[in-house]
Amino acid sequence: DAPGGVQVVRTPEDLRAVRQGLGPVGFVPTMGYLHEGHAALIRRARQENALAVVSIFVNPMQFGPTEDLARYPRDLDRDLRVCAEAGAQVVFTPDAGVMYPPGFSTQVSLTGVSEPLDGAARPGHFTGVATVVLKLLNLVQPDRAYFGEKDWQQLAVIRRMVADLNVPVQVVGVPTVRADSGLALSSRNSYLGAEQQARATVLSRALRAVQAAYAAGERDTARLEQAGLDVLATDPEVQPDYLAVVPPDLQRQPTVTPDSLNRVLVAARMFGVRLIDNLPLDPT
Ligand code: PAJ
Repeated sequence: DAPGGVQVVRTPEDLRAVRQGLGPVGFVPTMGYLHEGHAALIRRARQENALAVVSIFVNPMQFGPTEDLARYPRDLDRDLRVCAEAGAQVVFTPDAGVMYPPGFSTQVSLTGVSEPLDGAARPGHFTGVATVVLKLLNLVQPDRAYFGEKDWQQLAVIRRMVADLNVPVQVVGVPTVRADSGLALSSRNSYLGAEQQARATVLSRALRAVQAAYAAGERDTARLEQAGLDVLATDPEVQPDYLAVVPPDLQRQPTVTPDSLNRVLVAARMFGVRLIDNLPLDPT
């Protein structure tokens, strides 16, 4: 039924059976509607492990009451083809009732790294992410788990959780895949038409303006951020949530201390869609 020899597994019991006795497992958790960004994670997982497992689960717990859970795009047939093409051998796609049966009562919630930026803009979001990712890691028991830098704060939250809770997995961050225009690929881009996607490149252009200001010697956080905000202001459709220059712990400081993990992050609403992106402050 599934393309390219992909094995589709729907229950924890079947997953455990498939997982038994195999070599190193690489795991790519996703919410589906897969694109080249997801495919890059899957190819990497396949390259570095004997078995590549992908999960496809639109996790209700990480969506706020006013967010896009109900309209989040779904296409399992197409996703299975992308998985097969990228070299995944197993796709785990559980029902919500299997992940959150009646009586489910546990939350994994982090302080610090999960609090600013998207944590402030989307209350409860990272608790939903951390809870489902820990469940998925416990179910799949991978040797390595692959996450995109596209969701930089999510990656930081997962790294923190895995370290704090001694989860026996190696977390691997994978660079953001972009369209030629510079727009970061995202399942949510499907909400936008071609013209709107062209306008959405203002986000990556704003991030590059901050990189340029940093390269020119600016070290004041607010002035660096202003360089990006000025670019966002060129399009009246942009409603910024934040544009922030942050160190590795994501706690904003008045001035920048050199660190290869310094990052500039942006979140903005355009055409009714919330978009995020980020770049290293110093790409050299
Ligand atoms: P989702 O948005 O489907 O993304 C799944 C993974 O793909 C994440 O690690 C994300 O960072 C990565 N990704 C998305 N777009 C990317 C791009 N353009 N380049 C590289 N990687 C990209 O993130 C989630 O799902 C969920 O929060 C999840 C971790 C699955 C928990 O529900």
